[in-house]
Amino acid sequence: MDGKAYSKEILEQIKIKVCNMQKKPSIAVILVGNNPASQIYVNNKEKTARELGFVSKTYHLKENTNANELKDLILNLNSDKNTDAILLQLPLPKHLVSQDFIELIDPKKDVDGFHPINCGKLMTNSNPYAISCTPKGIIKLLKKYNVKIDGANAVVIGRSNMVGKPLAQLLLNENATVTVAHSKTKNLSAIAHGADILISATGIKGLVTKDFVKSGAVVVDVGIFRDEDGKINGDVEFEEVSKIASLITPVPGGIGPMTIAMLMENTLELSLNNAKF
Ligand code: GUN
Repeated sequence: MDGKAYSKEILEQIKIKVCNMQKKPSIAVILVGNNPASQIYVNNKEKTARELGFVSKTYHLKENTNANELKDLILNLNSDKNTDAILLQLPLPKHLVSQDFIELIDPKKDVDGFHPINCGKLMTNSNPYAISCTPKGIIKLLKKYNVKIDGANAVVIGRSNMVGKPLAQLLLNENATVTVAHSKTKNLSAIAHGADILISATGIKGLVTKDFVKSGAVVVDVGIFRDEDGKINGDVEFEEVSKIASLITPVPGGIGPMTIAMLMENTLELSLNNAKF
């Protein structure tokens, strides 16, 4: 499943919509500290946002920022009429508790859908202001390839607040029978083998081998990390698994670009919603 090609289509459509908007959607990205991976993500997000005609502003705070400084910035952005969407890049430095700050973001500006109001709305299937970008992108890509989710046995490996949990909820809302596996799960390969749709979001390189995959299953790889020699890998042993799976996402070029596209879609949706008030 080619997430790169599909995300390009989605971004082109967003760009056309933004062209016709008088007030452009605006996103504020908060980056605290010097995590190199976070800096790359934030730069990519900002570049894409600008290409679409969004207003994008990054607030780069120093590593030793204290809780009050971060709190003040979030509250200021909440009340700023020119900010539609707020993204707090995670992880935060160790002395700051992520959840405390996620809960300060106005749910109507919570572009990641991480605020408990938005998680609760997802759980009750009642129109969250935004849905977590990676899970949303996964469902969208599955639908693009006409994967039948209704009634499917879906196995999600990983239970993070960012991916595993919201993804399980979305799959359930689409009438899948959902199993969430994690680091304490017994007989993981046997459970994974029962999946019609197998989604791995662990960050463990090569975890999913051919023994995990039923013939004809759909496999989604959410893992992404760089080798010592610079090669980008995922959770799935692509070579052997692609011979068994009916559909599979590559890394890179699968879920990564879909996540960015969904971030842009969420920003646009929040700005259209905020314009009503
Ligand atoms: N860090 C890694 N992925 C993400 C994401 O999707 N959102 C935020 N806010 N931080 C991240």
